[in-house]
Amino acid sequence: MASPSRSFQAPKGTYDVLPGSEFLAVRDGLLAPATLAGYAYLETPVFEDTELFARGVGASTDVVSKEMFTFTDRGDRSLTLRPEGTAGVVRAVLQHGLQHGQLPVKVRYAGPMFRAERPQAGRFRQFQQSGIEAIGLVDPALDAEVVALAWEGFRALGLTEVRLLLTSLGDPACRPAYREELAAFLAGLDLDEATRARALLNPLRVLDDKRDAVQKQLADAPLMSDRLCADCKAHHDAVVEGLHGLGVPFEPAPRLVRGLDYYMRTTFEFVHDGLGAQSAVGGGGRYDGLSEAIGGPHLPGIGWALGIERTILALESEGVSPAAEAGLDVFVVALGASAKAWAVSAVGALRGAGVAADLAYGDRGLKGAMKAADRSGAPWAVVVGDRDLDAGVAQLKDLRNGEQTAVPLSDLTTTLKEKLA
Ligand code: HAM
Repeated sequence: MASPSRSFQAPKGTYDVLPGSEFLAVRDGLLAPATLAGYAYLETPVFEDTELFARGVGASTDVVSKEMFTFTDRGDRSLTLRPEGTAGVVRAVLQHGLQHGQLPVKVRYAGPMFRAERPQAGRFRQFQQSGIEAIGLVDPALDAEVVALAWEGFRALGLTEVRLLLTSLGDPACRPAYREELAAFLAGLDLDEATRARALLNPLRVLDDKRDAVQKQLADAPLMSDRLCADCKAHHDAVVEGLHGLGVPFEPAPRLVRGLDYYMRTTFEFVHDGLGAQSAVGGGGRYDGLSEAIGGPHLPGIGWALGIERTILALESEGVSPAAEAGLDVFVVALGASAKAWAVSAVGALRGAGVAADLAYGDRGLKGAMKAADRSGAPWAVVVGDRDLDAGVAQLKDLRNGEQTAVPLSDLTTTLKEKLA
């Protein structure tokens, strides 16, 4: 049994977002361009039917076969903490019939995802994604918009070294034949047992093998991009043209393999070279068969999810700091009982007028309260004693240069708003 004096730590692979973190600025900043493009906020539960992920993401993927946090609830239902957001979003769209309204259904979301992976730099068991999905239409112009919105999200945060890798994974018309061709090619190579087993499960995943000895043998492997059917090729060419039109640079990545099974046609990843092994800061693609895989009608879709922790690491590696949460504008220091009572209501009035205000709680004297004002990070302090109150004034102090002026109490909010404008 744990000793009563045990000190708790956040569970392995998780972390706390502490005050002062750029977390919110990154999470929301990444979605800002999508919000301007009409992607509405949608939120789904953090746990879903286990079967939704098994069918949607693919039972043979590492995510589903090895990394899910699955539990049985008190009603004997198998539930899983969502390892990703897309399956849940499509489930919600179908459940509420959103596909019967305006198409595409454009949504954005943000929140925690859970994968029981081995934690390392940039890899957590509870991690956060910002994502968008555009559901209900097949239009290469929409693919280009979706990809461009992620690109702009990274740019808006100030990142300049994110690279976009783009490919097409074909569709049910051309992929099966390619898969067979690749499987036959792999069968002729000198591969270890585990890799052979992987090739049987999903030959495409072998293309992603990082080992030199394997990569050397793959130099002449057939590539999906050379085997696209006419429709997939035309779609891909139009996406490429669309991205050129939007000024989004990308690198063709015919060997790009994603860890989720639902992708077809347009597939992409965003990578950052300042991150080490876990270099993918985001990824996504088209998933035109996902709805059917989870028992719905044919409902095509495309989207992406960007990793918040890795985006923060990318910002650090580029030496860019996005604005942390806006801090306080003013800190009120009251000396004496009547002054304190005035300060409490003054702070309420200031907040009501849109000024971020706080006051010195606790009885700590002028020196202690002024120290609290300095530590608060606010550029202004309002200092009021009982005598000031009697005279109807407050001392407005500029904490950056120490200058202080008396301001009539009735003008305090207007004066501060002018100074902060
Ligand atoms: P994903 O590539 O599995 O795609 O995840 C997207 C991003 O989430 C990754 O590029 C990475 O930045 C971050 N990420 C994934 N796993 C971890 C982890 N263990 N720790 C930290 N960050 C991680 C999806 O999840 C798809 N649902 C994206 C999508 C949306 N496709 C279509 N629509």
